[in-house]
Amino acid sequence: MALPEGYTFRKLQLSDYETYVENLKVLTTVGEVSLESFTELLNHWQSLPELYHPYVISNVEGSVVATGMLLIERKLIHECGLVGHIEDISVSKVEQGKKLGYHMISSLTSIAQELGTYKVILDCSPENVGFYEKCGFKNSGIEMVRRF
Ligand code: ACO
Repeated sequence: MALPEGYTFRKLQLSDYETYVENLKVLTTVGEVSLESFTELLNHWQSLPELYHPYVISNVEGSVVATGMLLIERKLIHECGLVGHIEDISVSKVEQGKKLGYHMISSLTSIAQELGTYKVILDCSPENVGFYEKCGFKNSGIEMVRRF
């Protein structure tokens, strides 16, 4: 499915600082993240390009309107197989319902498949199960957490 005209699926870049941080606020608490901290984090992600695959969808103005992170985990099981983890999916409130979330998940899933993973997994709240089912995922267990 094509993105709306003028929208682009691309890697996260330094100039996305403000709109990336703002966009993620629809997902959870972001807190204060300075440009310096963002730069350091992006440098870290970019220093481990096999592991971190941070993507965005930007609009005509170049502002981030959707975010998504793909992590590639190298395991020993499944003959040293690779597993993709999808994290931090957010679509800005005014852009929801335009299939941007679907496009983000489909694109990250395709990248994970091209990179040779045998599965892609993610955690979500019960309210988002229907969305991920529309993206081709199925419920496969229960998330456990211990918060600190
Ligand atoms: N429950 C059921 N179906 C849904 C939901 C939902 N919560 N959200 C969207 N859908 C459906 C749509 O109706 C559409 O169906 P259709 O193809 O029959 O028309 C289909 O799923 C695709 O919808 P999109 O337009 O691509 O959804 P959108 O771009 O609005 O993104 C998202 C959905 C990511 C859940 C967005 O609402 C959002 O950012 N929410 C707040 C943050 C959030 O909860 N993120 C996910 C966290 S989980 C994680 O990060 C791994």
